[in-house]
Order: sequence, then C-alpha cells, then structure tokens
Amino acid sequence: MGDSDTIFLKRFSLVIAVLVAITVVIIVIAVNTPGGVDPNANPSRLTLADERTLPVGAVRTELSAADLAAMAPPAPAAPVDPATIDGGAVYAQVCQACHMTGAAGAPVPGTDLWAERATKGLEQLAANAINGINAMPAKGGRMDLSDAEVTAAVEHMLGQ
Ligand code: HEC
Repeated sequence: MGDSDTIFLKRFSLVIAVLVAITVVIIVIAVNTPGGVDPNANPSRLTLADERTLPVGAVRTELSAADLAAMAPPAPAAPVDPATIDGGAVYAQVCQACHMTGAAGAPVPGTDLWAERATKGLEQLAANAINGINAMPAKGGRMDLSDAEVTAAVEHMLGQ
C-alpha cells in the first residue's frame, strides 16, 4: 500500500466517523424530543381529520317523503287530446317565422310553391315537418312540440 493510499484511508475513515457521530447525535435528539403533536391539545385538528376522512357515501336507513318523491318516476305527460290543439296558435308561435316570409326557402302557404307541396298530403307533410326536411328543422326546431301539435299546424297551413 502506497503513502497516498494510507492518507486516503485515514481521511475516509475520519469522514465515516464524523457521519456516524452526527447520526448518533440526531438519534439522541430525536429520542429525547417529546413525541409528536398531542391531538388532544387542539380538538379542531381532530374534527378536521374526521371530516377529511369521512366516507364518500353514507348509508341511509330512512327515507323522507321528499326522497321518495325524488325517486318516483316522473308522471307521464298527460296525453294531449288532438281536438284541443290549436294548430293556428302553434303555427303563429313557431312555424310562421319561416313560413310566412319564405325564409330559407320555406314554402309559404297560399302560394304555388306550397300548393306543390300540399299534393303530398297531410300525412307525408306532417311526417316531414316532424322529422325535418332539408332546411326545415325537425318540428320547426321546437322539439318540445308533440307530433300532434306539429300535425295540427300543418293542417292549419293546408287550410290557409
Ligand atoms: C327555421 C325555419 C322553419 C321553421 C321554424 C319551420 N319551417 Fe317548415 N320548412 C322550412 C323550410 C326551409 C322548408 C322547405 C324544406 C325543403 O327544402 O323541402 C319547410 C318545409 C315545410 C313543409 C313541407 C314539407 C314537405 O314535405 O315538402 C311543411 C309541411 C312544414 N315546413 C311545416 C312546418 C311546421 C308545421 C312548422 C312549425 C311547427 C314549421 N314548418 C316550421 C323552414 C321552417
């Protein structure tokens, strides 16, 4: 072993010894430090911890009337009596915007263009009005209208 090796080994051992000493000091300090945080010293810590570790769902053993109402399937929409539908009102509210002016090429009732369409017959016209045809949006864009309401509007248009 050369001199330089001896010097290296001595210095290396010294570094190891110092590190070990520091480790021992840290362990001694850690052991003598009063342990952790006393949770009872700060009850809000406990509450917070409880809140944060709550299960995502909770088991409900009782149902209120409101819960039962929320679970009940929605009442089916009362069937509309076609006889009570005012096709003229539906037309005025929804269809007229395009069909009175001919916007987007909408056939205007009472014109030759409309007469041409009318030859298709109510059933076909109503089906096209309900499902949409070319630039004509389904139900005139009012999907809340019932088929019967759209049909009534078409009937009204045929009567114009
Ligand atoms: C956004 C404009 C618009 C609205 C609103 C609209 N339509 Fe139309 N409608 C059109 C256009 C455009 C056409 C022509 C479509 C085509 O090129 O065949 C048309 C065509 C029709 C036709 C003829 C279909 C056929 O087979 O030739 C009927 C019937 C009709 N509309 C009924 C209605 C009724 C009923 C409503 C209201 C519920 C309505 N439209 C609302 C634009 C509209």
